[in-house]
Amino acid sequence: MDTSRRKVPRHIAIIMDGNGRWAKQRMQPRFMGHRAGVRAVEGIVKHCVASGVEVLSLFAFSSENWRRPGKEVSLLMELFSHALENQVKRLHKNNIRLNIIGDTSRFSPSLQQQITAATSLTAANSGLVLNIAANYGGRWDITQSVQQIVAKIQTGELEAKQVDESLIADHLVTAALPEPDLFIRTGGEQRISNFLLWQLAYTELYFTDKLWPEFTAQDLDNAIESFASRERRFGRTSEQITGSDDA
Ligand code: IPE
Ligand code: IPE
Ligand code: MG
Repeated sequence: MDTSRRKVPRHIAIIMDGNGRWAKQRMQPRFMGHRAGVRAVEGIVKHCVASGVEVLSLFAFSSENWRRPGKEVSLLMELFSHALENQVKRLHKNNIRLNIIGDTSRFSPSLQQQITAATSLTAANSGLVLNIAANYGGRWDITQSVQQIVAKIQTGELEAKQVDESLIADHLVTAALPEPDLFIRTGGEQRISNFLLWQLAYTELYFTDKLWPEFTAQDLDNAIESFASRERRFGRTSEQITGSDDA
């Protein structure tokens, strides 16, 4: 498929930001915003399936989010565990393949067990690929890719001269998946915050002030519509893309 002409993105990556502010607006503790954020995920996953999106990557917890107050971090871990407990069966029933992308080694042993169980249960599913980025950082991802490659060079499985862009990409956590076509960040900030740094090189960026808990299927459609109106040139000229002869 010609990715420059596609109207529905194959892969959407979302920074789900604004939970804390959503709660604050309602005079509630930040945690209530995170709970509402989990509910919003359900609707967006459903809508991606209905729209024919192949991969959805959601930033749930960054490698920098450990810097938050300990209480918020532990509540987020509990919420993550509950969400896995409550949602995995439904994801599986809907043929969704769940991947947890990130350095999961820092999570508690029981959460790690839950992650392994959930991902192996859904591993053979052929529908939407749902990547939940947890303790994820784009710099960590590139670093762990390089570490794997160096280890393979040391054992002789690879030679240094074989290191190229596609080899690095093949060792990222998103290996074998298409790169994101559309990146969405809710909550009004216009930054990447160390999300999929390598993979976003040619992704269309979309920012909205909507706070994540209030981001709806209609908002997702607005983002997809914006994506569909853009011309993706990947370094080429507009004339090359449209086929008009204007050298
Ligand atoms: C995003 O919402 C969720 C996480 C980072 C876990 P925030 O918690 O960052 O919400 P704001 O940005 O403070 O409103
Ligand atoms: C990015 O949001 C990470 C997630 C949504 C999980 P943050 O709220 O942590 O980002 P910054 O700190 O404002 O850049
Ligand atoms: Mg935030």
